[in-house]
Amino acid sequence: MSARIVKPGAIGQPFSRVDGRLKVTGKATFAAEYKVENVAHGALVFSQIARGKIKNIETSAARNAPGVILVLTHENAPEMKKTPVFGSDSEEMGAASSSILYLNTDEVYFNGQPVAVVVAETLEQAEHAATLVAVEYEEKQAKLILQAEKPDAVLPEHIPGEPSDLKQGDAEGALAEALYKVDNIYTTPPFNHNAIELHATLAEWSEDEKSLTVYDSTQYVIGVQEMLAKKFSLRKENVRVIGSFVGGGFGGKGNAWAHVSLTVAAAKVVKRPVKLVLSREGVHLSVGGRTPTEQRVALAANDVGKLTALIHTGFTQTTEHNNFAEQFTFPARHLYKSENIWLRQEMVHLDIVPNTFMRAPGESPGTFALESAIDELAHEMGIDPIELRARNEPDRDPVKDLPFSMRNIKEAYRVGAEMFGWSKRHAAPRTMRDGRFLIGCGVATAFYPAYQFPAAARVEIHADGTAIAQSAMHEMGMGSATAQAQNLADELGLSFEQVRFEYGDSNFPYAPVAGGSNSTISVGAAVKAACDDAKKKIHGLVGEDDASPLKGTRFDEVEFREGGIYRRDDATKGETFHAILRRFEEDKIEGEGEAAPGAESEKYSMGSYGALFCEVRVDEETGEVRVSRFLGVYDCGKIINPKTASSQWRGGITMGIGMALTEEALFDVRKGRIVNPSLAEYHLPVNLDVPNIEIHFLDIPDPLTPMGAHGVGEIGITGVAAAVANAVFNATGKRIRDLPITLDKLL
Ligand code: MOS
Repeated sequence: MSARIVKPGAIGQPFSRVDGRLKVTGKATFAAEYKVENVAHGALVFSQIARGKIKNIETSAARNAPGVILVLTHENAPEMKKTPVFGSDSEEMGAASSSILYLNTDEVYFNGQPVAVVVAETLEQAEHAATLVAVEYEEKQAKLILQAEKPDAVLPEHIPGEPSDLKQGDAEGALAEALYKVDNIYTTPPFNHNAIELHATLAEWSEDEKSLTVYDSTQYVIGVQEMLAKKFSLRKENVRVIGSFVGGGFGGKGNAWAHVSLTVAAAKVVKRPVKLVLSREGVHLSVGGRTPTEQRVALAANDVGKLTALIHTGFTQTTEHNNFAEQFTFPARHLYKSENIWLRQEMVHLDIVPNTFMRAPGESPGTFALESAIDELAHEMGIDPIELRARNEPDRDPVKDLPFSMRNIKEAYRVGAEMFGWSKRHAAPRTMRDGRFLIGCGVATAFYPAYQFPAAARVEIHADGTAIAQSAMHEMGMGSATAQAQNLADELGLSFEQVRFEYGDSNFPYAPVAGGSNSTISVGAAVKAACDDAKKKIHGLVGEDDASPLKGTRFDEVEFREGGIYRRDDATKGETFHAILRRFEEDKIEGEGEAAPGAESEKYSMGSYGALFCEVRVDEETGEVRVSRFLGVYDCGKIINPKTASSQWRGGITMGIGMALTEEALFDVRKGRIVNPSLAEYHLPVNLDVPNIEIHFLDIPDPLTPMGAHGVGEIGITGVAAAVANAVFNATGKRIRDLPITLDKLL
């Protein structure tokens, strides 16, 4: 073996985002910014009642308003076929957010439902005319209050792949007899989506109306393509959906909301391209958010702090038209060992905008309740909360009875405690103070499953020694395109600068929804498969070529590095892609690949974890809570890019601080209207609300996942609200079980 210096690969290096410069220089083209000639502008009219029928819809004033081309209502809209709802088991399910037949029905199912689209020459004209549409309704009694409808709650067949009611042993019995116990109700409010980029759709039909191009701010170009093909009876390959840049999704763009097909329908009728950008209010009214939850967590422990019962049950709200469960009991399935376990989730059907994914649906509210309860039990028993967690650390997955593929929670807590200075914290509440500020520290565990879904990719190696790969993946600002470029570079033995990753186009090979933090490993595995295919083709050329120093080698005797292919046993024998392609007079070599999770995924419990440390300062006189320090130590496998991953965690923690302290969609239960549909009144945390967030990661690869990696997009928000609430308790002695922790609750 000849000695040579092995250059470190691209994976693991903190490259800046490949899309970063384009975004900050205004060169990134978002859905609403594509230059399409002769484009008309759409605006929606939203229903003002929660349930009922449209008796009359008066559009003449709008039709006669300046610049108006069309007012589309249920009376003149083209047929849009019913398509499967996202999450249903059907083939090519598409991205539909609900089964409501918007503008093909006179029924109103929620307050804010789009009931008309106005198309005009300019956006201002469309928006103005939309205010002139007068709708008369026949109102029906609406179901709007979760508490009131609880008696009619239903037990879903399953919550994403898991039983909705799960009993091991007799948890209630063990709770009744327990020496130590906590048993409380935790509530979280509805949260609304507030990505910077408003939802936008730009639709352009071909003249023969057989094909359609749609620019859409989506996390799922393939899903939107599938849905639109079915809705408008088109061949799937004749529908192209492009979403190159997306200004944040967080789950709010994982489904296609009403405006997507309505824009396509409007474009069909006016025979011109139509662009529709939801207003901020329109996003709040017609795009679903996170359901509120009411959760009971009861924990019982014996005298040495081992759990004898773990109960996590409760309610979420959804609609008849989407049935989306918020799987808040998922963390309790995997985090603690307990002799007896009872988990149950029920759903209440209401007449509201269909609820949807929001960063770590389930795990975010679920960890708030569970990780608060653990803290409460620790306090009750006088045990350090990190120690109590350690005493209940399972060696196998508690409900699946499977080994973990990787799990280093204890190590994350050990490292975090040292970095944070946890030993200096006073366990007794109200014992740390700085003038009028009460100071408190809290911990909580972050958890998110590690998902891999089927995906495909293609790759081209060019004669100039560069390469590109393509997959219908998404880049919403999370760093996916950068991570995949790093993966591509290492797979082909090229430098990061020599490769490019293309995404966000349904013409590219299949990629799943950018949800469930699956993209990195799903697409990563597909890119690897495509690279393997290309590498075998190259080896196929040189392995039998008299002119090549690699003649006669087997594939396992060569390696790909520094833009070429070399013998493993003699590093001097080899040649560059450039030389090979020139000799064979080819301008590129192509590879294709597909990947899906292997059998291991059924044999192991695969999750990501984090240890969170929070310090708060609470103004004793006003009740104002400031998060003064936050540290997250993550156990998410091999980290492909420390810079982009850390940004994801910081963003997730920021969103978690919002969940803990400021965010809440206010809902008028008389009318079913969201009454704070603006950034002025829906309080997102701003710079001054967020301290410098410290991030550390263990970087221990998962032996069973592609690249040893896990997704990092969603885990960041999990556990944060509990860490804040636990710190607030430590500061003030007040246990807040009802988010957000606003000033009034502390006075
Ligand atoms: Mo994530 S909420 O699955 O986009």
